[in-house]
Amino acid sequence: MTRRELIHSATALALLPAQKMMAAQAALPKLPFAVDALEPYIDARTMEIHHGKHHQTYVDNLNKALATQPAVAAKPVEQLLKDLASVPEPIRNAVRNNGGGHLNHSLFWQTLGKHSPGAAPKGKLAAAVQKSFGGQQAFEEKLRAAGLTVFGSGWVWVTAKAGALTIETSPNQDSPWMAGVTPLFGIDVWEHAYYLKYQNRRADYLAAILNVIQWDFVSQRYEEITK
Ligand SMILES: [Fe+2]
Repeated sequence: MTRRELIHSATALALLPAQKMMAAQAALPKLPFAVDALEPYIDARTMEIHHGKHHQTYVDNLNKALATQPAVAAKPVEQLLKDLASVPEPIRNAVRNNGGGHLNHSLFWQTLGKHSPGAAPKGKLAAAVQKSFGGQQAFEEKLRAAGLTVFGSGWVWVTAKAGALTIETSPNQDSPWMAGVTPLFGIDVWEHAYYLKYQNRRADYLAAILNVIQWDFVSQRYEEITK
């Protein structure tokens, strides 16, 4: 499946505001690239484990939790995360961690792909980057700096609010979705995202992953989110 086909597939669209990813029987989405496509920035073995083991475990544990609570199992994952108080207490943490893990990684994979020299935000996103950060270089510097501030496991997020881009971070598998905000994209800073190749050098990982962000996809997503 090509990236363009994937963008238009149900799985990809499920992450846009108008569509919803149903929590019931969550499934591991296919990667929109070969496991070695991100080399040398992200190694194939890390991708195999990250997608095939870590993400699969979030999916399995989310399904396991929801199977015990049919009353909420049919709700979209985004809705469950936005209103965790409505999720029965016995599975609330499981939904937060595993539903979050599933949603976060599903978006993450879509925003990654083969390095394309000179790739950069386009159109409205390019203008928003200029307005919010003064340019792409400053934007990427702020993303890397934010990634270094996350203590332990978490994510760096870019959201679009009132025409401006905002960089924020979250612990564990929390995300802007929990506050009802659809993120533009996120960068996974859990050690499982980089430890095999970069060990403790998160700064090197952050610099590397910015080489494989698919700015065409993110630019298109920006248009959808800010419609
Ligand atoms: Fe991850």
